[in-house]
Amino acid sequence: RIAAHLNPPNFELRREECRAKGGAPGFKVAILGAAGGIGQSLALLMKMNPLVSVLHLYDVVNSPGVTADISHMDTTAVVRGFLGQPQLEAALTGMDLVVIPAGVPRKPGMTRDDLFNINAGIVRTLCEGVAKCCPNAVVNLISNPVNSTVPIAAEVFKKAGTYNPKRLLGVTTLDVTRANTFVGEVLGLDPKMVDVPVVGGHAGVTILPLLSQVKPPCSFTPEETEYLTKRIQDGGTEVVQAKAGAGSATLSMAYAAAKFADACLRGLKGDAGVVECAFVASEVTELPFFASKVRLGRAGAEEVYQLGPLNEYERIGLEKAKKELAESIQKGTNFIKK
Ligand code: NAD
Ligand code: LMR
Repeated sequence: RIAAHLNPPNFELRREECRAKGGAPGFKVAILGAAGGIGQSLALLMKMNPLVSVLHLYDVVNSPGVTADISHMDTTAVVRGFLGQPQLEAALTGMDLVVIPAGVPRKPGMTRDDLFNINAGIVRTLCEGVAKCCPNAVVNLISNPVNSTVPIAAEVFKKAGTYNPKRLLGVTTLDVTRANTFVGEVLGLDPKMVDVPVVGGHAGVTILPLLSQVKPPCSFTPEETEYLTKRIQDGGTEVVQAKAGAGSATLSMAYAAAKFADACLRGLKGDAGVVECAFVASEVTELPFFASKVRLGRAGAEEVYQLGPLNEYERIGLEKAKKELAESIQKGTNFIKK
């Protein structure tokens, strides 16, 4: 006898029909790299998101186990697993949102750019799949170096004729959650009450917290500004060193990715006033990509906000950030163009 759970009747169709009748909004979300450190926790959090009706978990290893595990959670989303390149197209077909944490993480002593050689090729392959199977999906790119992988994705989509700059977003939310946490500590406030815009990019000096624009309005001494800026810029390295060779931020990153994905889904649903920082195609500076606050809507990043007034410390930081960002963006673009 075949155990019932190995040969289940097709309840899934009935569940999806039910949901359609109830008119409940349900989005189809794929996580590429779902068996990794970020991917597993992110899968858990997305399975808990009531806006998700279908969750596809894709990886080149271990996705069947992660899928079986997550699928026993009694939340709405239907979970399906996909293993290896031959199943990439099935994983992507029909998706509304694709979240990509696939790729290798840093070890102590490495920069994010040291990951370029391996992760650039992974991101290219996955984005070719997106262009072919769900060209209208919103893409949340987490794989490092984000300052280069987003330009890589853009070039892949341009080549395929599917590029929509509003639908490609590099995830910098972790910089914002760190900034809110560290600023909250200094001010003695619950980080939930704190809003720090973090602009530029996602590596070292390209991470530029705008402490002069913190909400609620407050002021910092030069020492506090220096301490907070450095701590936010080096937040990733702090975790890499503490993990001592076992990888980089996974749990806080999964939290940040889930928060950002939820914001994208609320935007797609038509909620008003959904604003997050993200690394996107931009005209805010002379660079083709830049992280700043964006308004998320049905079309993706519908509006990219200007930086607002900067103080002298931030203006100097912005110049440093732009110099490094320009090189990282060019490197990503060249990877596909040349
Ligand atoms: P990990 O090694 O734990 O997991 C990565 C997963 O990707 C693995 O399961 C691996 O099998 C999978 N993978 C590798 N090649 C793949 C392919 N071709 N297709 C699908 N899956 C593939 O790493 P992690 O800690 O989860 O980090 C993943 C990436 O996220 C790293 O590049 C890391 O630097 C980056 N990251 C970014 C941020 C950010 O703020 N944007 C924060 C933390 C980590
Ligand atoms: C982070 O900011 O934690 C990530 O970009 C991972 C890393 O390598 O620091």
